[in-house]
Amino acid sequence: MACLPLWEDRLGRTLKIVDKDDDPLHQPNICLPRVSPAEDPFYGLETFDGPGPWDRSTLEVEAGNLTGTPGAKKMITFYGNDYLNLSTHPAVRKAAAKAALVHGMGPRAPFMTCGHTDYHRLLEDTLAEMTKKDACVITPTGFAARIALLSALGNVASLTSAGRRPTREERIGIFADILNYPTIIDGLRLVEEQREADVFVYRHNDIDHLDELLSGCPAEKKVVYSESLFGINGDFAPILKLVELRKKHGYLFVVDEAHTILTCGRNGGGIGEVYGIQDQIDICIGTLSKATGCRVGFIACSEGWKKLIQARGQPFTFATSTPVPIIAACYAAVEVAKKESWRRGAVWSRVECSAMSPLVSLLVGSEQEAVNASRHMLECGFHVTAIRPPVVAPNACRLQLTLTSAHTSEDISRLLQVEWRPAALWGTSNDQMVCLPQCPEYTTSRPHPPSISI
Ligand SMILES: Cc1ncc(COP(=O)(O)O)c(C=O)c1O
Repeated sequence: MACLPLWEDRLGRTLKIVDKDDDPLHQPNICLPRVSPAEDPFYGLETFDGPGPWDRSTLEVEAGNLTGTPGAKKMITFYGNDYLNLSTHPAVRKAAAKAALVHGMGPRAPFMTCGHTDYHRLLEDTLAEMTKKDACVITPTGFAARIALLSALGNVASLTSAGRRPTREERIGIFADILNYPTIIDGLRLVEEQREADVFVYRHNDIDHLDELLSGCPAEKKVVYSESLFGINGDFAPILKLVELRKKHGYLFVVDEAHTILTCGRNGGGIGEVYGIQDQIDICIGTLSKATGCRVGFIACSEGWKKLIQARGQPFTFATSTPVPIIAACYAAVEVAKKESWRRGAVWSRVECSAMSPLVSLLVGSEQEAVNASRHMLECGFHVTAIRPPVVAPNACRLQLTLTSAHTSEDISRLLQVEWRPAALWGTSNDQMVCLPQCPEYTTSRPHPPSISI
């Protein structure tokens, strides 16, 4: 496990204090009643060699008319993060339905009160193995996972300082890319407000700026937090350069694989697997509400971090456990995604012909312009989302499209034929697809996409 010695020492001291107060790992593992093969949610998990009719059921929808005239209009959606179209997969549906029939919702209290079921543990172990970590914590949502991790990090500072008031050196320095998703920003605000961390924001993907900030920071413990694929911009972080910089500064490296878990890597292990650097990533955080088409957040980490997050990561500690049918669906979806690797191939083949990643972000400008653009798309038969404040700055509103394994090249070329285009932005060449010159805080250079091996 990659956890750096400097951090292990401080984490160890924190855990000793936490252990005195409580011992979260002594919660029981609840064994659900044994069931017959016919009732078992995972028995004979079905996988397929190619798409089935269910694959397009969330892409081809009918939506009410915007002008108020009666009647629904057929349209193709380009808005979801269900990259592998697993939300409608027969194995996922069956797992959720069977688990609900046999077990109901499962324990209805937080883990700290009632422990986890063997289903929860199975999912945690599977995610830990995929990301090559010793352990994993699952949380009710991806949002909760970010807050839980960041509040646990903050506790490392407050628990180990005199009077629980960390000095500047004892506070943690957290370095985050300016384009990190708002869930991460919320977590950062929390630890900053509690005076447990100093947060440094570096220019988007600017390694020199990050290096400069790290060099000038007096904190003994530093963390770099970056998304692997930025949800707002649809571009990749310079992950190998971040790994290099980690050797110089010894920071705890947190990679947010929200958009890359299961979409990248031969086995779906994310960007860490693509580059073979999973051992250089200390904490891998993600959500199963995207490529898995279900819902839970996860934090894959060492046993020590898991223990601290369980004890002090508040959205984990205080929230009721995720219902068993959701966990069963998540597990089935992860297993299907590993086996049906053709889905990843299909996503990346769509990307090759039209974009840099399955997330295409087109800068439009003002909120009104973005809403108009989205409306126009709806009228032309495409559901494409306008991304507006508070997700982005008021002058940086966008249209965002996501490409999934079930979109066809015909869907994409029909979309590109729509007459209204944010003229300079909607080009056919890759370099014009994302254009961010109007916002000084955003870099206009495009890092090369990683070569994705599936
Ligand atoms: C980085 C990041 N965190 C959290 C989320 C939200 O995840 P969830 O819907 O599981 O709460 C997203 C999704 O947009 C995300 O990109």
